[in-house]
Order: sequence, then structure tokens, then C-alpha cells
Amino acid sequence: MRGSKVIVTGGAGYIGAHAAVSLIQNGFSPIIVDNLSRSSNQLLKGIFEITGHRPEFYELDCRDFDRLKSLLNKLREVYAVIHFAAYKSVSESVAAPELYYDNNLNSLLSVLKVMKESDIKYLIFSSSCTVYGEPDRIPVTEDSPFKRAESPYGATKQMSERILEDAVISRSGLKVVSLRYFNPIGAHPSGLIGELPIGVPSNLVPYITQTAAGKRDKLIIFGDDYDTPDGSCLRDFIHVVDLADAHVKALQNISNISPAFLGINVGTGVPVSVLQLVHEFVSVTGVDLPYEIGPRREGDVIKTYADPTRAKQLLHWEAKRSIREALNDAWNWEKRLSHATN
Ligand code: NAD
Ligand code: WQD
Repeated sequence: MRGSKVIVTGGAGYIGAHAAVSLIQNGFSPIIVDNLSRSSNQLLKGIFEITGHRPEFYELDCRDFDRLKSLLNKLREVYAVIHFAAYKSVSESVAAPELYYDNNLNSLLSVLKVMKESDIKYLIFSSSCTVYGEPDRIPVTEDSPFKRAESPYGATKQMSERILEDAVISRSGLKVVSLRYFNPIGAHPSGLIGELPIGVPSNLVPYITQTAAGKRDKLIIFGDDYDTPDGSCLRDFIHVVDLADAHVKALQNISNISPAFLGINVGTGVPVSVLQLVHEFVSVTGVDLPYEIGPRREGDVIKTYADPTRAKQLLHWEAKRSIREALNDAWNWEKRLSHATN
């Protein structure tokens, strides 16, 4: 398996770039396919700076079946595909649902068709805890029912999983692991790759780091009157490097996994509240973080965190890095970005 070629769609983005680093460090040869619609070559450079290896890169839209097919014809003997490429903004998906259904679903359909024609058997798919909505029981196991998606983005992840379930039935030999990420945060400890939010961040940690860096006036905490220990929402924040490593483990174990389609939670199993995270950030960095309590944000899940037992049993993976490490790494990345723009 060492040296095996792995197509990484969306590998110029936040999670894909971290996964490319982990793949290289574990002896795989990632080949990145990305149309740079939501990224640039900045993280590609970072991958090289960290690993000393420059992965092959193809600027290509996954929906472009003909170009994807001719790339695969040229490459030959590809072991697996990790499909990160998608749009991921909940609010944008509400404003422009057709954009999300088109990109997220047609990319997946095109990738599946090319995999069939090129006889590639293994696919790791980027799914999300958003498929569960507000769970009835926490921690959330993979058998929890999917609630009606709160957003078109969430719907694309649910529909993608349905497409994949049907694909393994129709194509014998195809195996799919759908990794359901909880809340990825942080950056590579080198400070050379991290998240590059477009516009005003809607996710908590980039908003925190931008506020601490003086780019935003203050953080608004969306509600402190929920039925939780401190009144703010509960999440399972996972260091992006731990998440990246889960993809390596999935590749290493996919041939032994059954059934042919399987959803696997990728989280720490430890609930952390929004207020707790804010206090940890201040404690780790020593930086002042102006914040105030605001109204609840519509559509927010109140409490969710993973039961990561299946990942431990089948992938031999568990999260190793702490919230404090993740926040420290996120802050170092933000300082580097702020320094570069000043
Ligand atoms: P990102 O936006 O940083 O990266 C996505 C990459 O895919 C970008 O580089 C973008 O240019 C590329 N892309 C988008 N559409 C494409 C297309 N049609 N063809 C080729 N490239 C295309 O996002 P991310 O945070 O790295 O997320 C990666 C995956 O993980 C996505 O599928 C996302 O839905 C999923 N996910 C993300 C989170 C999160 O909080 N970041 C949580 C759960 C799941
Ligand atoms: C976390 C908590 C907010 C910003 C989203 C997607 C989900 C997945 C991960 C892709 C919530 C609170 C936030 C702020 C705040 N992505 N918050 N002030 O909503 O758990 O999940 O990203 O699949 O699909 O929905 O993440 O980082 O937006 O919010 O108080 O300025 O932080 O209310 O409780 P979320 P988030």
C-alpha cells in the first residue's frame, strides 16, 4: 500500500490539505484535484513546505467528467479516491440552494462514474455530523436517524450518503467509508497550513481568532439560555490534524471493512461548550477576546457530540490532540495570516 496513488479532490482546501500532509507522511502519493473555486495555491505551497514533497496538482472541476476521466486514464493504478471537494457554507446554501445541489451532488456523481470506468474500488467521502441534525441521544452513534436537514448543505450530505449506499449495491467490489466529521478546528502545528475563511467567518474558531487579531470588533455568542451546563451550545471540536489522520487510517483499513458502505463518526467523544471554548482560548493565548451574549442563531443544533467507538474499532483511530493544542495552533495560523497581510 505504501506509495499507492490516492486522488484527493478538494485537496487545496482546509481539511484536504491537512489530509495530503498526513498521506505523504504515511507513504501515500496524493494527487490533488481542485478547481480552486474556494481556495488558492497557498495551502498547496504549505504542503510542500511541511513535507518537502510537491504533490501532483490538477486544476479541474470534479463535475467535468471528460477531463476527470482522461486524467485517470493517464494516471493508471489509482488505489483510492478521497472526495473532499464540495461547498460547505450553511448560510450560502440557504441563499443559493441550486448552487449546492449542483456542485456537491454532481461532483460526487462524476467521481463515482469515473471510479467505475477506471475500476477504482475504494472511496472515502467527507460527510458531516450535520446529517444527524439535533440528535435524540448523545453521544451520537452512527445508527442515529437522520433528521430532516436544516439546510440545503446538510441535505447534500444526506443525499450523498444515499447515493453512495445505492452505488455499492449496484457495483460489486466498490467500498465506501463515509467519515462524518464533527467540528474540525485548528491548524497544522507548523503554522504553514490552516483555514482560509472566505469573507466573514460563520464558524466559531475563525471568528474567535479574527476577533483576537483585531479584524472583528467582538464575538457574539449565539445564546446562553439553552438547556446545557452553562447555557451555551455543546459541540465536539476535533483538531484538524487528528481528522486528517482518520483518512489515512480509513485508507489503511477500508479493504477489511464491511458492509460495503459504512458511515463512521470522526470526533473526540468529549463535549465542549461554546463558552468553555472561548475561555480556553483566552487561557491558552493570553489574548483579550471581546465577546457578548447575543440571541440564538436559527437552525443551531443545541447539543451534539460523537460516540467514536466505531472509528476506534474499525479504523484503529482515536483523537489524540487536545482542544488547547487546537486553539494554540489556530491562533498561530491566524497570527501568520495577519502578519502576511499587514
Ligand atoms: P474547503 O472549502 O476549505 O475545501 C473544499 C475544496 O474543494 C476547496 O479547495 C474548493 O476549491 C474545492 N472544490 C469545491 N468544489 C469543487 C469542484 N466542483 N471541483 C473541484 N474542487 C472543488 O472546505 P473544507 O473545510 O476543507 O471541507 C472539505 C469537505 O469536508 C467538504 O466536503 C465539507 O463539506 C466537509 N466538511 C467540512 C466541515 C468543516 O467544518 N470544515 C465539517 C464537516 C464536513
Ligand atoms: C459552533 C457553535 C454556534 C459562531 C457547522 C455546520 C456543520 C459543520 C460544522 C460542515 C454553535 C456558536 C458560532 C459565532 C457562536 N460543517 N457560534 N458565535 O454550527 O456546529 O456546524 O460547521 O459540515 O454542518 O453547520 O459550527 O462553528 O458555526 O458553530 O456563538 O460567531 O458556535 O452557535 O453553537 P456548527 P459553528
